[in-house]
Amino acid sequence: MTNLVILISGRGSNMIAIADACRREGWPARIAAVIAHGADVPGLQAARALGLPTDVVDGRAHPERAGREAALAECIDRHRADIVVLAGYMRILSPEFVQRYAGRMVNIHPSLLPSFPGLHTHRRALEAGVTAHGATVHLVSDALDGGPILAQAVVPVHDDDDEARLAARVLRAEHRLYPMAVRWMVEGRVAHRDGRVSIDGIDHRLRCLYAPDEGPHAPSATLPGLVEAPRADTPSGLQQQNRRADQ
Ligand code: GRF
Repeated sequence: MTNLVILISGRGSNMIAIADACRREGWPARIAAVIAHGADVPGLQAARALGLPTDVVDGRAHPERAGREAALAECIDRHRADIVVLAGYMRILSPEFVQRYAGRMVNIHPSLLPSFPGLHTHRRALEAGVTAHGATVHLVSDALDGGPILAQAVVPVHDDDDEARLAARVLRAEHRLYPMAVRWMVEGRVAHRDGRVSIDGIDHRLRCLYAPDEGPHAPSATLPGLVEAPRADTPSGLQQQNRRADQ
């Protein structure tokens, strides 16, 4: 049984999508813990409602990054994580922390990397006038939003899109993409060399989902247990300096 530990800072919809797929598809895995950076993180409520073990490593109790990361690593290791899943975790992680979980820590970023690393990806995509946008699941490396890519989801950008509409379309794609990629991790298919990932038994073409919410297999509109709450990555949420730069 593979232990997944999921780190969240916001509403946790990707965490819910992964937990839901894990249960529904009978992965040989369990969600060992959902760890939030504060007790007020909205996704904690959703995790509890799903019966998942939760933990909090409160950033405010550890103003220094070294102390915070030591507490976080202790918590992750206490839950015996085999795979660490960043699901909207808005903290910048040090190279030492990244190294500790090298090859077994994944992240999802709301753009087609390497386009639009960092914040405000949907707004920047609209400003750039791209016709395709999406999301990327990657192994976490020292490079900001720059680790080896496991999978991507592409969605169209419509003429009349605004930031909210585009963000919602990308998020629905994320809910298909992230569980798919985490499952490959759980199944031990993922290897990486020279900055590139290979996935055993999975054709390269299957690593790209095209407009996954617009085809015949479109998922239902809402995830079970999703609590709609303000995003933690808005200025009123986390402190600017504590933002993880990948939204
Ligand atoms: C997602 O857009 C993800 O790509 C980014 O942060 C957001 C998290 O959303 N890293 P949620 O908390 O999973 O709903």
